[in-house]
Amino acid sequence: MNRLLSSVLAGCAFALLATQAPAQGYPERTITIVVPFAAGGPTDTVTRLVAEAMSKDLGQQVIVENVGGAGGTLGAGQVAAAAPDGYTLLLHHIGMATSATLYRTLPYDTLNAFEYVGLVTEVPMTLVARKDFEPTDLKGLIDYVKANADTVTVANAGIGAASHLCGMMFMSAIQTALVTVPYKGTGPAMTDLLGGQVDMMCDQTTNTTKQIQGGTIKAYAVTSPQRLDVLPDVPTAEEAGLSGFQVGIWHGLYAPKGTSADIVDRLSKSLQVALKDQNVVDRFAELGTAPSPEADATPAALKAKLESEIARWKPVIDAAGQYAD
Ligand code: MLT
Repeated sequence: MNRLLSSVLAGCAFALLATQAPAQGYPERTITIVVPFAAGGPTDTVTRLVAEAMSKDLGQQVIVENVGGAGGTLGAGQVAAAAPDGYTLLLHHIGMATSATLYRTLPYDTLNAFEYVGLVTEVPMTLVARKDFEPTDLKGLIDYVKANADTVTVANAGIGAASHLCGMMFMSAIQTALVTVPYKGTGPAMTDLLGGQVDMMCDQTTNTTKQIQGGTIKAYAVTSPQRLDVLPDVPTAEEAGLSGFQVGIWHGLYAPKGTSADIVDRLSKSLQVALKDQNVVDRFAELGTAPSPEADATPAALKAKLESEIARWKPVIDAAGQYAD
């Protein structure tokens, strides 16, 4: 066989092995999960618990990088542009769906920039305020904020954040616009709420449960259909007289488009193992939530969820008429 033919065949064999090698040896080094919000918030809390459990399963370090800003779209854009090698992932929530409508331009194409790994959890929200805020119940809160609309401040994590969506739903429900104060995440927002620098916030139980239980912030309602075991004295919004105010913040794990199918499959299987990890189950329960079931921690389930949620929230956002510039 002539030398040219043998070198061509050798090259083809190498190329074939090179495309397969990363999956067979994967993971060979540290994996980074980007959280598109500041450290200390609910998304960060969920991700660090999942990352620790996935690290045990994968036998490699899984670290968290916080990239806050623009309601989560900066961090999502960073992962969309990352190498599709399985070593940079994104853990994001409902904001992936709402930002597709809220932002006229995004640094990524929502439905074509990512591979889907699986759903992670769905977290209820709580309507909370600084502990010395005057109103003592949801009816009193609604009356108070309507009468003081130009001074009451509502914290959120930027347009596209879950806290922004919930705040927007609240203001639409009471037909009153309030002064919003954006942060890079509801971790830093909670610091100001505890310090009394901001009046109220709608945030996930993964960030508010301990403070509510400790009496360092005031809770008026939960956005879940039923009361939560961890917050038995906090009424649902429905009970408290605000009908239709139900929202659950689902979270998904993504990889950049082009990440190989067998790496995505390995990650999905690791996510499913992590969501059964006892520490994840126990800590999620303490914070008012639960891991997604195994059947939802799959690429197909996350794809379907994202597509249906984009369609669901578009009319709600269009009705509110609030968009990012
Ligand atoms: C949000 O409000 O979207 C996030 O929960 C903020 C955060 O995780 O810090």
